[in-house]
Amino acid sequence: MAGQWGSYQNEIYLQGLADRVPPFTTDPTRLEGLAREVLADGPFGYVAGGAGSGATVAANREAFGRWRIVPRMLTDATQRDLGTSVLGVPMAAPVLLAPIGVQSIVHPDGELATARAAAALGLTMVLSTASSTTIEDVAAANGDGSRWYQLYWPNDNEVTISLLQRAKAAGFTTLVVTLDTWTLAWRPHDLDQSYLPFIRGFGTAIPFSDPAFRAKLAKSPEEDPQMAILQWIPMFTGTDHRWDQLPFLREHWDGPIVLKGIQHVDDARRACDAGMDGIVVSNHGGRQVDGAVAALDVLPEIVAAVSDRLDVLFDSGIRTGADVLKALALGAKAVLLGRPYVYGLALGGEDGIRHVVRGILADLDLTLGLSGNRTPADLSPDTLRRT
Ligand SMILES: Cc1cc2nc3c(=O)[nH]c(=O)nc-3n(C[C@H](O)[C@H](O)[C@H](O)COP(=O)(O)O)c2cc1C
Repeated sequence: MAGQWGSYQNEIYLQGLADRVPPFTTDPTRLEGLAREVLADGPFGYVAGGAGSGATVAANREAFGRWRIVPRMLTDATQRDLGTSVLGVPMAAPVLLAPIGVQSIVHPDGELATARAAAALGLTMVLSTASSTTIEDVAAANGDGSRWYQLYWPNDNEVTISLLQRAKAAGFTTLVVTLDTWTLAWRPHDLDQSYLPFIRGFGTAIPFSDPAFRAKLAKSPEEDPQMAILQWIPMFTGTDHRWDQLPFLREHWDGPIVLKGIQHVDDARRACDAGMDGIVVSNHGGRQVDGAVAALDVLPEIVAAVSDRLDVLFDSGIRTGADVLKALALGAKAVLLGRPYVYGLALGGEDGIRHVVRGILADLDLTLGLSGNRTPADLSPDTLRRT
Protein backbone atom coordinates (compact mmCIF):
# COMPACT_ATOMS: atom_id res chain seq x y z
CA MET A 1 0.00 0.00 0.00
CA ALA A 2 1.47 3.34 -1.02
CA GLY A 3 2.36 5.22 2.09
CA GLN A 4 -0.61 3.85 4.02
CA TRP A 5 0.83 5.03 7.33
CA GLY A 6 2.51 8.10 5.90
CA SER A 7 -0.89 9.46 4.87
CA TYR A 8 -1.37 10.68 8.45
CA GLN A 9 0.78 13.58 7.27
CA ASN A 10 -1.73 14.51 4.54
CA GLU A 11 -4.59 14.18 6.98
CA ILE A 12 -2.96 16.62 9.39
CA TYR A 13 -2.18 19.20 6.72
CA LEU A 14 -5.70 18.97 5.28
CA GLN A 15 -7.19 19.47 8.74
CA GLY A 16 -5.19 22.67 8.83
CA LEU A 17 -7.47 24.06 6.10
CA ALA A 18 -10.26 23.88 8.69
CA ASP A 19 -8.00 25.54 11.26
CA ARG A 20 -7.48 22.30 13.12
CA VAL A 21 -4.12 21.18 14.48
CA PRO A 22 -3.20 17.82 16.02
CA PRO A 23 -4.34 17.24 19.63
CA PHE A 24 -0.75 17.61 20.82
CA THR A 25 2.75 17.53 19.39
CA THR A 26 3.82 15.32 16.50
CA ASP A 27 7.38 15.38 17.89
CA PRO A 28 7.72 12.24 20.03
CA THR A 29 10.81 13.61 21.77
CA ARG A 30 8.59 16.27 23.36
CA LEU A 31 6.03 13.84 24.80
CA GLU A 32 7.79 13.28 28.11
CA GLY A 33 7.81 17.03 28.76
CA LEU A 34 4.11 17.34 27.97
CA ALA A 35 3.24 14.34 30.14
CA ARG A 36 5.16 16.00 32.98
CA GLU A 37 2.61 18.81 32.87
CA VAL A 38 -0.46 16.58 33.20
CA LEU A 39 0.75 13.84 35.55
CA ALA A 40 1.26 13.97 39.31
CA ASP A 41 4.83 13.43 40.54
CA GLY A 42 4.34 9.78 41.52
CA PRO A 43 2.95 8.46 38.21
CA PHE A 44 5.26 10.65 36.13
CA GLY A 45 8.35 9.44 38.00
CA TYR A 46 7.20 5.84 37.71
CA VAL A 47 6.83 6.06 33.93
CA ALA A 48 9.75 8.29 33.00
CA GLY A 49 12.24 7.16 35.62
CA GLY A 50 14.90 4.53 35.36
CA ALA A 51 17.13 2.54 37.65
CA GLY A 52 19.81 4.26 39.71
CA SER A 53 21.49 7.23 38.09
CA GLY A 54 19.54 6.84 34.85
CA ALA A 55 22.74 5.95 32.97
CA THR A 56 21.07 3.19 30.97
CA VAL A 57 18.02 5.29 30.10
CA ALA A 58 20.45 7.79 28.59
CA ALA A 59 22.62 5.09 27.01
CA ASN A 60 19.61 3.69 25.14
CA ARG A 61 19.07 7.04 23.45
CA GLU A 62 22.77 7.70 22.83
CA ALA A 63 23.10 4.36 21.06
CA PHE A 64 20.54 5.42 18.45
CA GLY A 65 22.47 8.65 17.92
CA ARG A 66 25.59 6.72 16.94
CA TRP A 67 23.88 5.20 13.90
CA ARG A 68 22.99 7.31 10.87
CA ILE A 69 20.86 6.40 7.88
CA VAL A 70 22.50 6.63 4.45
CA PRO A 71 19.65 7.46 2.02
CA ARG A 72 19.63 5.99 -1.49
CA MET A 73 18.06 7.72 -4.52
CA LEU A 74 15.96 6.72 -7.56
CA THR A 75 14.91 3.40 -6.06
CA ASP A 76 11.21 3.63 -6.98
CA ALA A 77 10.13 3.73 -3.34
CA THR A 78 6.69 5.23 -4.04
CA GLN A 79 4.77 2.06 -3.23
CA ARG A 80 5.65 0.92 0.26
CA ASP A 81 4.43 -1.73 2.63
CA LEU A 82 5.41 -1.78 6.29
CA GLY A 83 3.97 -5.27 6.61
CA THR A 84 6.11 -8.01 8.06
CA SER A 85 5.71 -11.37 9.68
CA VAL A 86 6.60 -12.22 13.26
CA LEU A 87 6.55 -15.79 14.56
CA GLY A 88 5.08 -16.74 11.20
CA VAL A 89 2.11 -14.39 11.60
CA PRO A 90 1.62 -11.38 9.28
CA MET A 91 1.68 -7.96 10.93
CA ALA A 92 0.56 -4.67 9.39
CA ALA A 93 3.69 -2.95 10.67
CA PRO A 94 6.83 -4.03 12.53
CA VAL A 95 5.71 -2.31 15.73
CA LEU A 96 3.95 -3.78 18.77
CA LEU A 97 2.76 -1.98 21.89
CA ALA A 98 5.08 -3.06 24.71
CA PRO A 99 3.78 -4.57 27.93
CA ILE A 100 3.45 -1.67 30.33
CA GLY A 101 1.89 -2.27 33.73
CA VAL A 102 -0.41 -0.12 35.85
CA GLN A 103 -1.60 2.11 33.02
CA SER A 104 -4.47 3.45 35.12
CA ILE A 105 -1.96 5.61 37.01
CA VAL A 106 -1.71 7.81 33.92
CA HIS A 107 -5.30 7.64 32.62
CA PRO A 108 -8.50 6.10 33.99
CA ASP A 109 -9.06 4.09 30.79
CA GLY A 110 -5.62 2.49 31.16
CA GLU A 111 -5.09 -0.80 29.33
CA LEU A 112 -8.61 -0.69 27.87
CA ALA A 113 -7.61 2.39 25.86
CA THR A 114 -4.46 0.62 24.72
CA ALA A 115 -6.43 -2.46 23.70
CA ARG A 116 -8.87 -0.37 21.66
CA ALA A 117 -6.16 1.74 20.04
CA ALA A 118 -4.14 -1.33 19.07
CA ALA A 119 -7.19 -3.01 17.54
CA ALA A 120 -8.16 0.15 15.64
CA LEU A 121 -4.66 0.45 14.19
CA GLY A 122 -4.33 -3.26 13.43
CA LEU A 123 -1.26 -3.62 15.68
CA THR A 124 -0.45 -6.23 18.30
CA MET A 125 -0.65 -5.25 21.95
CA VAL A 126 1.23 -7.03 24.70
CA LEU A 127 -0.71 -7.09 27.97
CA SER A 128 1.29 -6.95 31.22
CA THR A 129 0.63 -9.18 34.22
CA ALA A 130 0.68 -5.91 36.18
CA SER A 131 -2.35 -4.63 34.28
CA SER A 132 -4.93 -2.42 35.97
CA THR A 133 -7.68 -4.36 34.18
CA THR A 134 -8.38 -8.08 33.97
CA ILE A 135 -7.20 -10.30 31.14
CA GLU A 136 -10.79 -10.87 30.08
CA ASP A 137 -11.81 -7.19 30.03
CA VAL A 138 -8.74 -6.27 27.99
CA ALA A 139 -9.54 -9.07 25.54
CA ALA A 140 -13.10 -7.76 25.18
CA ALA A 141 -11.83 -4.23 24.53
CA ASN A 142 -9.33 -5.60 21.99
CA GLY A 143 -12.09 -7.55 20.17
CA ASP A 144 -10.69 -9.38 17.18
CA GLY A 145 -7.37 -7.53 17.51
CA SER A 146 -4.05 -9.31 17.90
CA ARG A 147 -2.84 -9.70 21.48
CA TRP A 148 0.04 -11.30 23.33
CA TYR A 149 0.26 -11.90 27.08
CA GLN A 150 3.32 -10.92 29.12
CA LEU A 151 3.99 -13.04 32.17
CA TYR A 152 5.67 -11.91 35.33
CA TRP A 153 6.34 -15.47 36.33
CA PRO A 154 4.81 -16.14 39.76
CA ASN A 155 6.68 -18.42 42.13
CA ASP A 156 3.46 -20.37 42.61
CA ASN A 157 2.82 -22.98 39.93
CA GLU A 158 -0.95 -23.14 40.40
CA VAL A 159 -1.28 -19.41 39.91
CA THR A 160 1.07 -19.50 36.91
CA ILE A 161 -0.98 -22.22 35.24
CA SER A 162 -4.19 -20.36 35.95
CA LEU A 163 -2.87 -17.13 34.40
CA LEU A 164 -1.71 -19.00 31.31
CA GLN A 165 -5.06 -20.74 30.94
CA ARG A 166 -6.95 -17.48 31.27
CA ALA A 167 -4.75 -15.73 28.72
CA LYS A 168 -5.16 -18.58 26.26
CA ALA A 169 -8.93 -18.71 26.75
CA ALA A 170 -9.12 -14.94 26.20
CA GLY A 171 -7.41 -15.15 22.81
CA PHE A 172 -3.86 -14.12 23.67
CA THR A 173 -1.78 -15.97 21.09
CA THR A 174 1.82 -15.55 22.25
CA LEU A 175 3.41 -15.70 25.68
CA VAL A 176 6.08 -13.13 26.51
CA VAL A 177 8.07 -14.03 29.62
CA THR A 178 9.87 -11.07 31.11
CA LEU A 179 13.09 -12.20 32.75
CA ASP A 180 14.79 -8.96 33.75
CA THR A 181 12.39 -7.83 36.46
CA TRP A 182 12.22 -10.75 38.85
CA THR A 183 12.81 -8.16 41.54
CA LEU A 184 12.56 -4.38 41.31
CA ALA A 185 15.72 -2.37 40.79
CA TRP A 186 16.79 0.56 42.96
CA ARG A 187 14.67 3.34 41.48
CA PRO A 188 15.34 6.70 43.15
CA HIS A 189 12.48 8.46 41.34
CA ASP A 190 10.01 6.17 43.04
CA LEU A 191 11.90 5.74 46.31
CA ASP A 192 12.18 9.47 46.90
CA GLN A 193 8.39 9.71 46.75
CA SER A 194 7.75 6.35 48.46
CA TYR A 195 5.68 5.58 45.38
CA LEU A 196 5.06 1.98 44.36
CA PRO A 197 1.76 1.58 42.45
CA PHE A 198 1.20 -2.06 43.46
CA ILE A 199 1.20 -1.34 47.19
CA ARG A 200 -1.42 1.32 46.49
CA GLY A 201 -3.66 -1.24 44.81
CA PHE A 202 -2.85 -0.38 41.17
CA GLY A 203 -1.85 -3.14 38.79
CA THR A 204 -3.41 -6.00 40.73
CA ALA A 205 -6.54 -6.66 38.65
CA ILE A 206 -5.19 -9.87 37.15
CA PRO A 207 -4.29 -11.72 40.37
CA PHE A 208 -7.31 -10.35 42.22
CA SER A 209 -9.59 -11.84 39.57
CA ASP A 210 -7.68 -15.10 39.44
CA PRO A 211 -9.40 -18.17 40.92
CA ALA A 212 -6.14 -19.93 41.83
CA PHE A 213 -4.83 -16.85 43.61
CA ARG A 214 -8.11 -16.14 45.35
CA ALA A 215 -8.27 -19.72 46.60
CA LYS A 216 -5.09 -19.07 48.59
CA LEU A 217 -6.48 -16.06 50.47
CA ALA A 218 -8.14 -16.21 53.87
CA LYS A 219 -10.35 -13.29 52.84
CA SER A 220 -11.22 -12.12 49.34
CA PRO A 221 -9.42 -9.07 47.87
CA GLU A 222 -12.73 -7.21 48.12
CA GLU A 223 -12.92 -7.89 51.87
CA ASP A 224 -9.26 -7.31 52.63
CA PRO A 225 -7.39 -5.69 49.75
CA GLN A 226 -4.28 -4.93 51.79
CA MET A 227 -3.80 -8.56 52.77
CA ALA A 228 -4.30 -9.66 49.15
CA ILE A 229 -1.69 -7.16 47.98
CA LEU A 230 0.78 -8.36 50.59
CA GLN A 231 0.27 -11.94 49.43
CA TRP A 232 0.58 -11.08 45.74
CA ILE A 233 3.71 -8.95 45.82
CA PRO A 234 6.10 -11.68 47.05
CA MET A 235 4.44 -14.12 44.66
CA PHE A 236 5.30 -12.17 41.51
CA THR A 237 8.45 -10.40 42.57
CA GLY A 238 11.54 -11.35 44.53
CA THR A 239 12.18 -14.88 43.21
CA ASP A 240 14.45 -15.54 40.25
CA HIS A 241 13.77 -18.52 38.01
CA ARG A 242 16.20 -20.81 36.15
CA TRP A 243 16.68 -21.98 32.57
CA ASP A 244 15.75 -25.51 33.56
CA GLN A 245 12.28 -24.30 34.56
CA LEU A 246 11.32 -23.16 31.05
CA PRO A 247 9.88 -26.58 30.10
CA PHE A 248 7.20 -25.93 32.72
CA LEU A 249 5.95 -22.95 30.69
CA ARG A 250 6.17 -24.92 27.47
CA GLU A 251 4.10 -27.67 29.05
CA HIS A 252 1.36 -25.26 30.10
CA TRP A 253 1.32 -22.84 27.16
CA ASP A 254 0.08 -23.99 23.79
CA GLY A 255 1.64 -21.41 21.48
CA PRO A 256 4.81 -19.42 20.81
CA ILE A 257 6.95 -18.28 23.74
CA VAL A 258 9.13 -15.17 23.62
CA LEU A 259 11.73 -14.32 26.28
CA LYS A 260 11.97 -10.60 27.04
CA GLY A 261 15.00 -8.93 28.54
CA ILE A 262 17.82 -10.73 26.73
CA GLN A 263 21.05 -8.71 26.64
CA HIS A 264 23.84 -11.29 26.28
CA VAL A 265 24.54 -13.38 23.22
CA ASP A 266 24.96 -16.52 25.32
CA ASP A 267 21.52 -16.03 26.85
CA ALA A 268 20.12 -15.65 23.34
CA ARG A 269 21.74 -18.97 22.43
CA ARG A 270 20.29 -20.57 25.55
CA ALA A 271 16.85 -19.34 24.54
CA CYS A 272 17.33 -21.15 21.20
CA ASP A 273 18.53 -24.28 22.94
CA ALA A 274 15.49 -24.15 25.20
CA GLY A 275 13.27 -24.19 22.12
CA MET A 276 11.95 -20.67 22.53
CA ASP A 277 10.30 -19.05 19.52
CA GLY A 278 11.54 -15.51 20.00
CA ILE A 279 13.41 -13.08 22.21
CA VAL A 280 13.11 -9.39 22.93
CA VAL A 281 16.50 -7.73 23.18
CA SER A 282 15.67 -5.22 25.90
CA ASN A 283 16.95 -3.68 29.11
CA HIS A 284 13.43 -2.76 30.21
CA GLY A 285 13.94 0.83 29.13
CA GLY A 286 16.83 1.27 31.56
CA ARG A 287 14.59 0.56 34.52
CA GLN A 288 16.45 -2.44 35.92
CA VAL A 289 20.27 -2.51 35.77
CA ASP A 290 21.72 0.96 36.04
CA GLY A 291 24.86 1.01 33.93
CA ALA A 292 23.64 -1.85 31.74
CA VAL A 293 24.69 -1.76 28.11
CA ALA A 294 22.36 0.03 25.69
CA ALA A 295 20.01 -2.54 24.21
CA LEU A 296 20.78 -1.34 20.67
CA ASP A 297 24.50 -1.92 21.20
CA VAL A 298 24.01 -5.66 21.74
CA LEU A 299 21.38 -6.12 19.04
CA PRO A 300 23.76 -6.79 16.09
CA GLU A 301 25.76 -9.50 17.84
CA ILE A 302 22.62 -11.23 19.09
CA VAL A 303 21.03 -11.09 15.63
CA ALA A 304 24.20 -12.55 14.13
CA ALA A 305 24.18 -15.41 16.62
CA VAL A 306 20.55 -16.51 16.67
CA SER A 307 18.32 -14.88 14.05
CA ASP A 308 18.41 -18.03 11.93
CA ARG A 309 16.88 -19.96 14.82
CA LEU A 310 14.30 -17.62 16.33
CA ASP A 311 12.73 -14.18 15.83
CA VAL A 312 14.64 -11.33 17.44
CA LEU A 313 12.49 -8.41 18.59
CA PHE A 314 13.80 -5.24 20.17
CA ASP A 315 12.86 -2.47 22.59
CA SER A 316 14.42 0.19 24.83
CA GLY A 317 14.85 3.72 23.60
CA ILE A 318 12.64 3.74 20.50
CA ARG A 319 11.19 7.22 20.17
CA THR A 320 10.95 8.08 16.46
CA GLY A 321 10.28 6.44 13.13
CA ALA A 322 13.97 6.70 12.34
CA ASP A 323 14.74 4.76 15.54
CA VAL A 324 12.42 1.97 14.41
CA LEU A 325 14.15 1.91 11.03
CA LYS A 326 17.58 1.67 12.67
CA ALA A 327 16.57 -1.24 14.89
CA LEU A 328 15.08 -3.06 11.89
CA ALA A 329 18.20 -2.40 9.83
CA LEU A 330 20.28 -3.92 12.62
CA GLY A 331 18.23 -7.07 12.35
CA ALA A 332 15.18 -6.78 14.62
CA LYS A 333 12.09 -8.40 13.09
CA ALA A 334 9.90 -5.89 14.91
CA VAL A 335 10.14 -3.45 17.79
CA LEU A 336 8.09 -2.81 20.89
CA LEU A 337 7.06 0.76 21.50
CA GLY A 338 7.15 1.68 25.21
CA ARG A 339 6.99 5.02 26.96
CA PRO A 340 5.84 7.10 23.93
CA TYR A 341 2.43 5.45 23.76
CA VAL A 342 2.00 5.73 27.52
CA TYR A 343 2.60 9.46 27.23
CA GLY A 344 -0.03 9.46 24.48
CA LEU A 345 -2.40 7.70 26.88
CA ALA A 346 -1.66 10.27 29.57
CA LEU A 347 -2.27 13.16 27.18
CA GLY A 348 -5.38 11.93 25.40
CA GLY A 349 -6.55 8.42 26.32
CA GLU A 350 -7.22 6.12 23.39
CA ASP A 351 -7.07 9.00 20.90
CA GLY A 352 -3.77 10.09 22.38
CA ILE A 353 -2.27 6.64 21.85
CA ARG A 354 -3.54 6.58 18.28
CA HIS A 355 -2.06 9.98 17.58
CA VAL A 356 1.37 9.02 18.94
CA VAL A 357 1.52 5.62 17.26
CA ARG A 358 0.20 6.86 13.91
CA GLY A 359 2.76 9.63 14.02
CA ILE A 360 5.68 7.29 14.67
CA LEU A 361 4.49 4.92 11.94
CA ALA A 362 3.99 7.79 9.49
CA ASP A 363 7.52 8.96 10.25
CA LEU A 364 8.80 5.40 9.78
CA ASP A 365 6.94 5.03 6.47
CA LEU A 366 8.22 8.34 5.10
CA THR A 367 11.76 7.78 6.35
CA LEU A 368 11.76 4.30 4.85
CA GLY A 369 10.76 5.66 1.46
CA LEU A 370 12.98 8.72 1.54
CA SER A 371 15.97 6.57 2.35
CA GLY A 372 15.20 4.48 -0.73
CA ASN A 373 13.42 1.44 0.71
CA ARG A 374 9.98 -0.04 0.15
CA THR A 375 9.65 -2.66 2.87
CA PRO A 376 11.32 -3.55 6.15
CA ALA A 377 12.91 -6.47 4.30
CA ASP A 378 14.90 -3.97 2.18
CA LEU A 379 16.76 -2.78 5.29
CA SER A 380 20.12 -4.14 6.36
CA PRO A 381 23.18 -2.89 8.26
CA ASP A 382 24.25 -1.39 4.91
CA THR A 383 21.38 1.08 5.30
CA LEU A 384 23.26 2.60 8.22
CA ARG A 385 26.63 4.05 9.05
CA ARG A 386 28.09 4.08 12.54
CA THR A 387 29.46 7.50 13.43
C1 LIG B 1 5.90 2.53 33.25
C2 LIG B 1 6.48 1.29 32.66
C3 LIG B 1 5.95 0.06 33.05
C4 LIG B 1 6.44 -1.12 32.49
N1 LIG B 1 5.85 -2.30 32.83
C5 LIG B 1 6.29 -3.43 32.26
C6 LIG B 1 5.63 -4.67 32.53
O1 LIG B 1 4.67 -4.71 33.28
N2 LIG B 1 6.11 -5.78 31.93
C7 LIG B 1 7.18 -5.75 31.08
O2 LIG B 1 7.59 -6.79 30.56
N3 LIG B 1 7.80 -4.60 30.78
C8 LIG B 1 7.37 -3.44 31.35
N4 LIG B 1 7.98 -2.27 31.02
C9 LIG B 1 9.07 -2.26 30.03
C10 LIG B 1 8.53 -2.11 28.60
O3 LIG B 1 7.86 -3.26 28.18
C11 LIG B 1 9.68 -1.83 27.61
O4 LIG B 1 10.66 -2.83 27.75
C12 LIG B 1 10.31 -0.46 27.84
O5 LIG B 1 9.31 0.51 28.06
C13 LIG B 1 11.18 -0.06 26.66
O6 LIG B 1 11.86 1.13 26.93
P1 LIG B 1 11.38 2.56 26.35
O7 LIG B 1 10.04 2.83 26.90
O8 LIG B 1 12.39 3.52 26.89
O9 LIG B 1 11.42 2.47 24.86
C14 LIG B 1 7.51 -1.07 31.56
C15 LIG B 1 8.03 0.17 31.18
C16 LIG B 1 7.52 1.33 31.71
C17 LIG B 1 8.08 2.65 31.22
